[in-house]
Amino acid sequence: MIISSANDYREAARRRLPPFLFHYIDGGAYAEYTLKRNVEDLSKIALRQRVLNDMSSLSLETRLFDETLSMPVALSPVGLTGMYARRGEVQAAVAADKKGIPFTLSTVSVCPIEEVAPAIQRPMWFQLYVLRDRGFMKNALERAKAAGCSTLIFTVDMPVPGARYRDAHSGMSGANAAMRRYLQSVLHPQWAWDVGLHGRPHDLGNISKYLGKPTGLEDYIGWLGNNFDPSISWKDLEWIREYWDGPMVIKGILDPEDAKDAVRFGADGIVVSNHGGRQLDGVLSSARALPPIADAVKGEIKILADSGIRNGLDVVRMLALGADTCMLGRAFIYALGASGGAGVSNLLELIEKEMRVAMTLTGAKTIADITSDCLVKLNKELAG
Ligand code: GLV
Repeated sequence: MIISSANDYREAARRRLPPFLFHYIDGGAYAEYTLKRNVEDLSKIALRQRVLNDMSSLSLETRLFDETLSMPVALSPVGLTGMYARRGEVQAAVAADKKGIPFTLSTVSVCPIEEVAPAIQRPMWFQLYVLRDRGFMKNALERAKAAGCSTLIFTVDMPVPGARYRDAHSGMSGANAAMRRYLQSVLHPQWAWDVGLHGRPHDLGNISKYLGKPTGLEDYIGWLGNNFDPSISWKDLEWIREYWDGPMVIKGILDPEDAKDAVRFGADGIVVSNHGGRQLDGVLSSARALPPIADAVKGEIKILADSGIRNGLDVVRMLALGADTCMLGRAFIYALGASGGAGVSNLLELIEKEMRVAMTLTGAKTIADITSDCLVKLNKELAG
């Protein structure tokens, strides 16, 4: 199949993956309104075309938390990445590393911290949830530090999991799920050979190491369901600070008041995110939430943004709306599921090329030049 965009990778992944995995990554919470809005609202942001400015030399490089990024993009933490390609976290991390951008390992990855961090040159980022089991959190932070992880992405928008209707229908959860997943795997032989057979163990690597016993997909649903902690508050972040002295980024901010609290707390960054439309359906898209947040805290804290970014034009839009760096989740998993690490590398090349075109035609020679001046004024109403 011809691949020229993340959407092509989505279609290729749909063909290659067992449906329970495709729908797990493709789907969102409840009726998926926010999932759709994330993409639609971004596409409505009109870029302001400027011409004849000698755009022969562009720089996409940026600095974030004392790291140099070849472009303002990082890979988001995605649970079960290792189910989308053989040892998928390692493959995606290596692709990000080769491109010169950070990879974030999810708490609920298949490959553990100790398998992924040594496979790459630059320091890995690590993502953590607030879980009832504080012993696990402390253990994970210590291990991330020991493995040289540089930045902690602390996810705060999952005190309870949003219902994902598609998971029940696809066999990810629900009645006879294990049998349905097995049958789907048999019907997708390329995936069954690559991941089902040669991608083992299909543990939740970080959790197995902590519990000292194998874990699997059943534990993913069960352990997480029982372990998210609705009592989460700013106090928990203070507790985390005791164990983490590196940059700490709070992921899941959608409101300027929460962004201001993150500054008051002393966080190094926030991720403006609705968890890819996977949590509270009906909330604002990231593209709409971002401008008032940027008005409130830009310059005081690093602003990262995710949810809905599918190409380099979207990256430029998010930066023009106030983000310092973007994070990609679904887009890279589609590429990984379709073509492994080579797919992720190619996707990152596509994103860079798309960014170059957008920067050339909006007159932005550097990342710092990407401001609201790159947008047509009418967007102010749209984004407000
Ligand atoms: C986990 O963070 C998920 O969105 O499934």
